[in-house]
This record gives sequence, structure tokens and C-alpha cells, in this order.
Amino acid sequence: MDKLTLTQPDDWHLHVRNGEILKTVIAHTARQFARAIIMPNLKPAVTTVDEALTYRSEICQALPSGSNFNPLMTLYLTPDTSVAEVKKAALAEHIHAFKLYPAGATTNSESGVNDLKTIYPILEAMEQEDIPLLIHGEVTDDACDIFDREKVFIESSLASIVKTFPDLRVVVEHVTTQEAVDFVFSASNKVAATITPQHLMFNRNALLAGGIRPHYYCLPIIKREHHRLALVKAATSGNPKFFLGTDSAPHLTGSKENSCGCAGCYSAYGALELYAEVFENEDALDKLEGFASFYGPDFYQLPRNSNTVTLQKQAWTVPASYPVDQGSITPLMANEILSWKILD
Ligand code: DOR
Ligand code: ZN
Repeated sequence: MDKLTLTQPDDWHLHVRNGEILKTVIAHTARQFARAIIMPNLKPAVTTVDEALTYRSEICQALPSGSNFNPLMTLYLTPDTSVAEVKKAALAEHIHAFKLYPAGATTNSESGVNDLKTIYPILEAMEQEDIPLLIHGEVTDDACDIFDREKVFIESSLASIVKTFPDLRVVVEHVTTQEAVDFVFSASNKVAATITPQHLMFNRNALLAGGIRPHYYCLPIIKREHHRLALVKAATSGNPKFFLGTDSAPHLTGSKENSCGCAGCYSAYGALELYAEVFENEDALDKLEGFASFYGPDFYQLPRNSNTVTLQKQAWTVPASYPVDQGSITPLMANEILSWKILD
């Protein structure tokens, strides 16, 4: 097979930032995806419907002319989020979810929630309003080994959220472990997960063996090979609980190649091509359309896209970097060869 036509996919977990960098990264996403769930971890965080709509306008203005790309906005849950804001969000056409960051878990998560029990009344309102909760599933306890933080979060917090709010739609974002995959498989169909290209493609050797490679550093951190294999199995299983979410998270090259480098892999430039690589290696290209184009909109109760994109088997080299206003962004797999290319 050297050509593959799919219903146009969407990205169900994406960071596009704001300001100058936005123009470059949103064009990369809009080249392949019709819609994306936009993460609210700006500085300051996007916490209200009005702020999210302002941010949405900024994104739309940054799009290449003629683009029909639709940004699906989310609100950042803080200890101050009110039931009234949940009700307002549920009625707002362009707001699709709330994002929960445990305070301190990752980039710009300081405004997140320390004690999850304190927001249970908000989660109850979200359950009633049927607006999804997107979770960064890691504990923030310094004493917890960084490679165990997702697993411990599942045991200590996620299980209880899902049990207490059985009708709340929950997306466990960017799952990285066998434990997370098992949890989502055995939960009700209100619980789903996104999977990133980097967690499907690499294990922790890519980050540390033979030198520290900051462009593979993201949170949750990439794990051991047996976890990667569990993720690949889930993504290519055809189970609708698992769908595409890149977590593409651009940082300036200088902020990553640094004595305290930022977390985040930049994959938006070629996300679908990266996933195609994974699915082809598993002999599962027939499962790519469900993962990339069907299960996400089904879970979010949105229509599937009606247009298509075509991938062609054609080797190309990922650029060393993409220039932006204040420097450059180094992509995931810079200078490496990918074997599928989207036809423009
Ligand atoms: O690696 C990450 N980068 N993980 C996150 O959760 C946030 C993201 C970012 O915003 O840079
Ligand atoms: Zn993210």
C-alpha cells in the first residue's frame, strides 16, 4: 500500500501557546487536522469562558488565510473554579472540556489543584452538565519517583474520581503506562485516553542512553519498553477508548537544550505522519482511521469530519528546526527520515 486516504483527523490534545510562536505552530496543525482540543495552560491560565473565547479569536486570527480549522477550547480548573462557570461553559458552543492539572505536575500548572477532594463539587457539576474532564494524571509528590507518578495517581486519585462520578466523561490524557491502559480498558465507556506519538515510538532509552536528549523529554516522562508496547497495543486495537492526542508542546530550542530544560515534544509539524509510522510497523494501518478520525469525535459527541486527507508512502527528512520569532523550535525526530507524507 503506498497511498492511504482517511477521513480528516482531529488532535484531541494540543498546545499552541500564544503570541508570535502561535502562527507557526497552528499552521502545522491546520495542515492536517480539522479540529484540536486546545490546552489552557498559558500564563496566565485560561480559566473562564470569556478568556477562552478571547484566546480562540487569537488562534483563529493566526491561521493561514482560507483555513477552516476549528479550535475546540478548554478551561483550566483551579481551586477557584465555580459551579456557575461550569454551567456557562457547558452552554458555550466553543468550550468542550475542563482540564485538571495537579498543581506543580508540569509546565504552567502552578494554578492547578492541590487537593482534588476540594473540587469534587465542581466535578459533580461537570457530571450533571455532561462536560468532559481532561486529566493530567500524575501525582506531584516530590518523594514519588518520576517514573511512578502516573501509576500512583491512578491508584490514589483517578480510581476515586471515576468511582464517585460514574457519569462524568473523563479523558486520561497522554497515557504512558501499562497500568493506565489497563485502567482505561476496564473502566466504563465514559472513560477514554489519548496517546501521543512520542509515547508510542520511544522508550526511556531514547531520552537517556548515549547522552541526554532533551527533545524527548516531556511529561509524563517516557517509560520502559513494556509500557510502550502496551500503548501500541491499545492504540492499534481498534478499541474506541483510545484516540489521537499529540500533546505537541512547542518550546524554544534554547529552553529545552538547557541545564533545566522544559518538558514538551514538538510533533505538530508531522503528527499524522508519525502515527502512520507506528501503525505501519504494527501492520495496523487499517486501524489508523478509527484512532485518528472517529473515536475522538464520538467521545466528544461531535460529528466526524466529512472531508479526507491522503498520506503517500514517500520518504522525507524532518527539518533540523523550524524558525520562529525569538529563535527556533526543534521538532521531535529532527533530521530523521519519515516514510509517510501528507499530500497537500
Ligand atoms: O511535556 C509536557 N509539556 N507535558 C505537559 O503536560 C505540558 C506540556 C507543555 O505545556 O509544555
Ligand atoms: Zn499537554
